[in-house]
Amino acid sequence: MDVRNMTRRELSEYIAEHLSGPGEEEAREAKAERDRYYGNRIFIRGLIEFTNYCKNDCLYCGIRKSNKCASRYRLSKDEILGCVLQGRELGMNTFVLQGGEDMYYSDKQMCDIISAIKETAPGCAVTLSIGERSRESYKAYKDAGADRFLLRHETADEAHYSRLHPESMSLKNRMKCLYTLKELGYQAGAGFMVGSPYQTPDTLAEDIIFLRELEPHMVGIGPFIAHKDTPFRDMPNGTVGLTLTMLTLTRLALPRVLLPATTALATLDDMGREKAFNVGANVVMPNLSPPDSRNKYSLYDNKASSGDEAAEGLRHLSERIENAGYVVDMGRGDSKMNIENNGGNK
Ligand code: 5AD
Repeated sequence: MDVRNMTRRELSEYIAEHLSGPGEEEAREAKAERDRYYGNRIFIRGLIEFTNYCKNDCLYCGIRKSNKCASRYRLSKDEILGCVLQGRELGMNTFVLQGGEDMYYSDKQMCDIISAIKETAPGCAVTLSIGERSRESYKAYKDAGADRFLLRHETADEAHYSRLHPESMSLKNRMKCLYTLKELGYQAGAGFMVGSPYQTPDTLAEDIIFLRELEPHMVGIGPFIAHKDTPFRDMPNGTVGLTLTMLTLTRLALPRVLLPATTALATLDDMGREKAFNVGANVVMPNLSPPDSRNKYSLYDNKASSGDEAAEGLRHLSERIENAGYVVDMGRGDSKMNIENNGGNK
């Protein structure tokens, strides 16, 4: 199916007809596209959730500012480096620093942390996932050694965006940040939740249209899961089926994209990761955060953070990946976006 050329209307119709999963043919194609560029390798990233303080108040998110029940924490530079060392021992070569929008960490401190990670783990890739900042800040982090940046757009539909976020936030600024990150030379990741409140096949079609336009290097897609201490506590969760449909469409729209099998998907379905690999996903991000921070980094209820989601469980996770017919790749796993000819099944 030619997702690169489908109209809004065609995308929306396909989505409406595939709420419980992609068509067999499309799923096969998506998997083949992934194989063509990346082979059957699954890339491992070590995730470090370094702060759950956040100045934003996104209606869906468990670490939103006005959630007074959240128990807040920040990791020091030394604690972060401890996580990196632990990941290194496990053989990891990408570290993702993820946190709420926490202004406690100045640009100078962030740069200091980034360069210290690079010294601690020479040759590794550093990915930031710390939200919206100015171009100058993004530039400073890049100069300090950051390689990649994840910033989900959450939804590409303006009206939908404003129902998920406080007035202080805008889709325009989010999109501007993403274009800035690409311009500055980051490998940039966008993404969205599936089944978020007020989402429709039309807004999901808009997500694919936006992704085709932005051409990000990575796209994070996971189901919405209600968090009990947010205004969306009573909203229904997203589904595994529709998440797989959106993963399929994204892989077909952007064949060279890096596509994680997300923790949210694994939280809803014990076989979620394997199902995602089978429609073209090729990244997993086990958690390196200290155990007591993990529980506090609660974006949604029952978030998986032990077992296969935990770095200590890497051996078991690797076994599962291999049993599903894939090969674990502990390398940097850079995007092949800007490479003309693929180095797929080599
Ligand atoms: N359910 C699923 N995903 C969520 N996120 C935040 N809150 C939730 C939730 N309730 C996702 C957002 C954010 C990422 C870090 O986590 O998409 O970008």
